[in-house]
Amino acid sequence: MSISSDNPLREDRLSRQIAKPCSLVIFGATGDLTHRKLIPALYNLAVENDLPPGLKVTGFARREKTDGSWRNELAESNQRHSRGGHNRTTWDNFSSNISYHRGNFNEIEAYHSLSRHLDMVDADGTTQHNRLFYLSTAPEFFPVVLENLKTAGLNQSKSGGWSRVIIEKPLGSDLATAQQLNHVLRNTFSEDDTYRIDHYLGKETAQNIMILRFANAIFEPLWRSRFIEQVQITCSENLGMEGGRGAYYDKAGATRDMVQNHLLQLLSLIAMEPPTDLSADSVRDEKVKVLRSLRRMNPADVAKNVIRAQYTCGEINGEAVPGYRQEERVANGSKTESYVAMRVFIDNWRWEGTPFYIRMGKRLPKKATEISLHLKSPPNVLFQKLPSIDGSNVLTMRIQPDEGMSVRMLSKLPGNNLQIEPVKMDFHYLSSFGKGSPEAYERLLLDAMAGDATLFARRDEVENAWLFIDAIESAWHGTDHPPAIAEYPAGSWGPPEADRLLAERGHHWHEL
Ligand code: BG6
Repeated sequence: MSISSDNPLREDRLSRQIAKPCSLVIFGATGDLTHRKLIPALYNLAVENDLPPGLKVTGFARREKTDGSWRNELAESNQRHSRGGHNRTTWDNFSSNISYHRGNFNEIEAYHSLSRHLDMVDADGTTQHNRLFYLSTAPEFFPVVLENLKTAGLNQSKSGGWSRVIIEKPLGSDLATAQQLNHVLRNTFSEDDTYRIDHYLGKETAQNIMILRFANAIFEPLWRSRFIEQVQITCSENLGMEGGRGAYYDKAGATRDMVQNHLLQLLSLIAMEPPTDLSADSVRDEKVKVLRSLRRMNPADVAKNVIRAQYTCGEINGEAVPGYRQEERVANGSKTESYVAMRVFIDNWRWEGTPFYIRMGKRLPKKATEISLHLKSPPNVLFQKLPSIDGSNVLTMRIQPDEGMSVRMLSKLPGNNLQIEPVKMDFHYLSSFGKGSPEAYERLLLDAMAGDATLFARRDEVENAWLFIDAIESAWHGTDHPPAIAEYPAGSWGPPEADRLLAERGHHWHEL
């Protein structure tokens, strides 16, 4: 992006950094994420000519495979998952830079041979000795992969190149385990070379939150508790525990799986102060302040402000689906929540007293993520004789699908009588810009190759988010009368307890 400006400093701060050529090594090469997201993201970047020239991809995994057999498997999944289709010639060009390296994660020799393999890849000079290691393995392998990378010297930059690591969630399962992982990370890569992925930050509409707030004069003056009555962040999914996910999910639950990371990240973007500039640390400094200002809950607060629930059998799109406890690899008497709704407060100057409602659930009627800001009603002096309508203005950001934004307001209905109706001003990415949004992983992979960590979580963000979540989890799992788990039929909008949580303050859930 080039920006005409008289101010060179400003230009420097706003210009997108350029992704550099490198060797990208994917640990967990045969896994779901590689097939569904990473390779299709790289392929689509290749289609759009956005990949740095000379990018080489090496897959590292335990199974016996050849370069050719891995490429064939990737071609098949790319046809299914690539957002921009699958063109044979483009694929052949792109995949000629893909190779496979077999190895056990815990065998050091496999890393020495990986090092020799990367030296060979580097030999023609195209990768400039830059290396990007992507940890897409099960989390129990993170420490051993990091330690072995270090022992084999792969964490060190070489011949003027750089060495970076991208790590996927889950980043721990509580504060203590997140700190242990961060400790291993710190012993292996510097914080500047560590890229903790939260793919929600790569979503186009999440990136647009800062633009909306800080590039427009219309919203920011209202963006505070004086004018905002309440804020809602909802992530609704209609899927259940497909693909054997039950085993992981039953240990995690909705709160650890989605709230600790994606939804608290969205909350920080909504609530943060303007950063001093757009550098990664300035933005993350402001986000972490929000996380540190979250009001911590004791068990009594959790009982009052947090609802957890599980789906029972029901219907999704006309099809009968089992309840959570009947899902494959979920314990019979499981108490893990597939739904959570909470009222949280940010104890800082801007947000004092405004409730933020966060809601996440599996097997709800549809897939959608939205943020809505509900403004306080104007003084009710002029129109009080008219039939009462909820007069609040609502600003809604649709994170997905149908990315866009709308503002709800009241208007006079045309005609000779004074009648007032709510109307919506709507902005859709697709109709305004004529094209859909790229996949989050496309932007995030490019940013890691460019050395821009703005859209990645910093160590202190992850740890502060855990500190907040741990208080909730320990209230649920402590012995001190943990609140019961509620139920909702699959295909419904969650348990009645969650509606009551909002009704206590005269609020109701925003319809998605
Ligand atoms: C993942 C969670 O991080 O995000 C999943 O582990 C969830 O449970 C997924 O379904 C949602 O991502 P998206 O991009 O489909 O909203």
